[in-house]
Amino acid sequence: MAWSAHTIIQNGKPIPFEEARVHPLSVGLAYGAAVFEGIRAYMNPATGRLSVFRLEEHLARLDQGMKFMRFDDPPSRDVLRQGVLESVRANAPDDDCYIRLQVHIESRGSQSTTGKVGWVCAAIPRDRSPKRESGLSLGVSSWTRIADNTMPARIKATANYHAGRIATLQAQADGYDAPILLTREGKLSESAGACLCLVRDGVLITPARDSDILESVTRGTVMELAAELGVPCEERRADRTELYVADEVFLCGTGQELVPVTRVDRLPVGDGKPGAITMQLQAAYEAVVRGTTDAHAAWRTPVP
Ligand SMILES: Cc1ncc(COP(=O)(O)O)c(C=O)c1O
Repeated sequence: MAWSAHTIIQNGKPIPFEEARVHPLSVGLAYGAAVFEGIRAYMNPATGRLSVFRLEEHLARLDQGMKFMRFDDPPSRDVLRQGVLESVRANAPDDDCYIRLQVHIESRGSQSTTGKVGWVCAAIPRDRSPKRESGLSLGVSSWTRIADNTMPARIKATANYHAGRIATLQAQADGYDAPILLTREGKLSESAGACLCLVRDGVLITPARDSDILESVTRGTVMELAAELGVPCEERRADRTELYVADEVFLCGTGQELVPVTRVDRLPVGDGKPGAITMQLQAAYEAVVRGTTDAHAAWRTPVP
């Protein structure tokens, strides 16, 4: 990726990227009172035009997050939508971009302070997973996924990422690419920044919404694409040992996109190669995000 970001949108204003500021004692930083979205914009190879993928779904989830955080006077969906599109347009990227839209408390205060709310939107280059063809090696973590009545697992709150961070650092120290987190009951939950999918006997299985997962936009997309490809899908609680008997495993998320998993706890998944259904779904995902198919045009918001 040749381009770099020179402009960031802070509280609705485009400013030089390096000049964005919040105070170190802001409640957003001091107590992690922030919610965000990671969004991608993809370039269509024929037209060279960028479209933001599933922007409305990301904005809707952010609305839920701001409500949950009891933020005072949160920015409206229209304002944030304009911010996202402007963050991309202003940087004139010549390739795909990753967009971080973040709403936080920018004033100082205590852990129960609910305003003043500020926001930033940055469009930056982001590489794709280097393992998107060869596959990841994952390890089941000794850390458990945050429980829904401890931290808001289905809200994309920045503070949640502390749990994902320590599990990732442990997994990497143990020689894995990333962790798999279980719920407190020992059922499969997700990875540290992506959802988990298994394929057994031709059926796609993904941990249910009550497995302390982030309700992932990509997971929803993958389930729709699977149905269109004639792959039955089960959204249910899933056992850890299903990982070891699955024919295929993959991760999905905006950042990871759709990446095969070829080893879990050093055991090969299926025959140890990226699975056929996984790679079929990866290709279908690539077509729909980039708009090389006319299907699901409503999922792509063109950048003006
Ligand atoms: C903890 C966590 N789970 C799952 C996902 C996948 O969610 P989405 O597909 O909405 O990006 C993410 C973000 O990418 C995440 O941070």
